Amino acid sequence: MLTITLPRPDDWHLHLRDGAMLRAVLPESARHFARAIIMPNLVPPVVTLTDAVAYHGRIKAALPEGMAFDPLMTLYLTEATDPADVARAATSGLVKAVKLYPAGATTNSHGGVRDLAKVLPVLEKMAEIGLPLCTHGEVTDPEVDIFDREAVFIDTVLAPLRRRLPDLRVVMEHITTEEGVAYAAEGGDNLAATITTHHLILNRNHILVGGIKPHYYCLPVAKREKHRLALRKAATSGSPRFFLGTDSAPHIDSLKEHACGCAGCFTATNTMPLLAHVFDEEDALDRLAGFASLNGPAFYRLPVNAARMVLEKRSDPCTWPDKIDTEAGPVTVFNPGFPVHWHVVS
Ligand code: NCD
Ligand code: ZN
Repeated sequence: MLTITLPRPDDWHLHLRDGAMLRAVLPESARHFARAIIMPNLVPPVVTLTDAVAYHGRIKAALPEGMAFDPLMTLYLTEATDPADVARAATSGLVKAVKLYPAGATTNSHGGVRDLAKVLPVLEKMAEIGLPLCTHGEVTDPEVDIFDREAVFIDTVLAPLRRRLPDLRVVMEHITTEEGVAYAAEGGDNLAATITTHHLILNRNHILVGGIKPHYYCLPVAKREKHRLALRKAATSGSPRFFLGTDSAPHIDSLKEHACGCAGCFTATNTMPLLAHVFDEEDALDRLAGFASLNGPAFYRLPVNAARMVLEKRSDPCTWPDKIDTEAGPVTVFNPGFPVHWHVVS
């Protein structure tokens, strides 16, 4: 029997939604994670400090008795965002980042940014005060193939932006390509990248071969195998530039199993057993703490959690519910398609 102990992990990219969905999925994250960066793509989005204070209150109110969880809030960047409001949000201590969604890139991103020039004053303010920008790094140009959108974003948006504002602290969210890995690895102290659980496990064949698997469809979409291998190498490398952001993104089954299915994999429930499995396969269990518990707080300049998590490898496979019931309908838990023997024991 093999046991590993880590500081309690955090999730640096999480969708909790609102209302009935929030109530149902919040315990799935709070069970294992101490903190999470909470994505602001609600309908309507979390744009101002006032919006973030209200959403933070709703998350805290939805937390079951006896559970501890610290939601780290983000603001959804729009072309109307006020730099002074962003500065106040940072000073408040409640807001830890601003999220850039190129308009139309993903779920609820229509209010996002069309013209980066329009948000330059906000980005300049963020560079000045050290507030990180979290990027959904995909271009939305219909001419660009969906599998190339991340690499093109790096070349045409991110690299020029960082040359213009070298002090801007940037998190490349949910990277999915070897180009993303290479750019993040070389980016210096002001750059980091999150990697999801499912992108360490899936390539595009898993989505498409033998029938379409709507529960494996997320954005950015999983790429070819060589990219998955590059992500595994990065996550298990020990480099402080890479840390966990699950991008756990619940949608009810009727909207996933649909003619125009929503993007998102729901991994909050089983991420830690799955990560232990992946790091074990890569012979890198000693680096799981870095990826899940240490590198994220270091980048966000927050303390490492004092509490601990213990995982144990057992002969019997770990089990979890196939679905989480919500008042809005069931949400399917990510199924990796192989048995997982790592159990979270405390
Ligand atoms: C996310 C969602 O559903 O909000 N979906 C996803 O596939 N990851 C949005 C996002 O992070 O792109
Ligand atoms: Zn996301």
